[in-house]
Amino acid sequence: MTPAGPRRPLVSGNWKMHHDHIEALHTMRDLGLRMKPEDVAQVDVSVHPPFTDLRTVQTLVEGESIPVALGAQHCNDHDRGAFTGEVSPQMLARLGVRYVIVGHSERRQHFGMSDELVAATLRAVLQHDMTPILCVGETEEERAAGRTETRLSSQLEAALQELDGSHVAGLVVAYEPIWAIGTGRAATAVDAEDACLFVREKVAELSGADAATSMRVQYGGSVNPENAPDLMAEPDVDGLLVGGASLDAAGFVEIIRASRPAAGRRKG
Ligand code: PGA
Repeated sequence: MTPAGPRRPLVSGNWKMHHDHIEALHTMRDLGLRMKPEDVAQVDVSVHPPFTDLRTVQTLVEGESIPVALGAQHCNDHDRGAFTGEVSPQMLARLGVRYVIVGHSERRQHFGMSDELVAATLRAVLQHDMTPILCVGETEEERAAGRTETRLSSQLEAALQELDGSHVAGLVVAYEPIWAIGTGRAATAVDAEDACLFVREKVAELSGADAATSMRVQYGGSVNPENAPDLMAEPDVDGLLVGGASLDAAGFVEIIRASRPAAGRRKG
């Protein structure tokens, strides 16, 4: 469906519950030393550390001009209030956070995050001018039963129904098949492309063709330096959401380099 658009690749490192603030400092220093200006000339990069590391990472990124956007892994859908243990989008925005992962399957599975709460959180993140990375993806059973597209459709419908096209255009959607997360069994490039294309077509139906063409779609699930080039060569894969392989600066930089348009991607 998509002619090669002006979509800039986005490579995001989701650290999950790894790296305390001291380890974060070391990892970011290492990343800063390894990243060259040409690595990010045509690629956006974000890192999503745990909440307790955000201030440390922000200070380092700003102080040493590391070309990485600050990201968060989750937030509440309210700006303030009696929500013990939660962090608000307003607090993240004040810290200079630019991207927030919303509705990661681990939040949905382990913390009962409903489609409704995902939609409310998306709106809250957008209200503070941050970019949500909306995660969608099917379970192994759904895939085996041929229900991948039904699952993706219902997640997208629930998430996007109250957003206007201009907001959707700026969104990032991460297609993350649950069976591929943390298992070492990444989707093949062809399967990732099929699903990312399906996401784009569904978004075109829900929010209009312009929004679908502008929006970036990432693939996530066992991405590593070896499979990144093939995944990024696909026309509808605009970036990667990387878990385990983002914890190590050397490997993460290799993935960033594999995502450069000049790295042999078929899109223009
Ligand atoms: P993984 O995680 O790269 O470790 O599979 C991806 C994710 O959950 O975002």
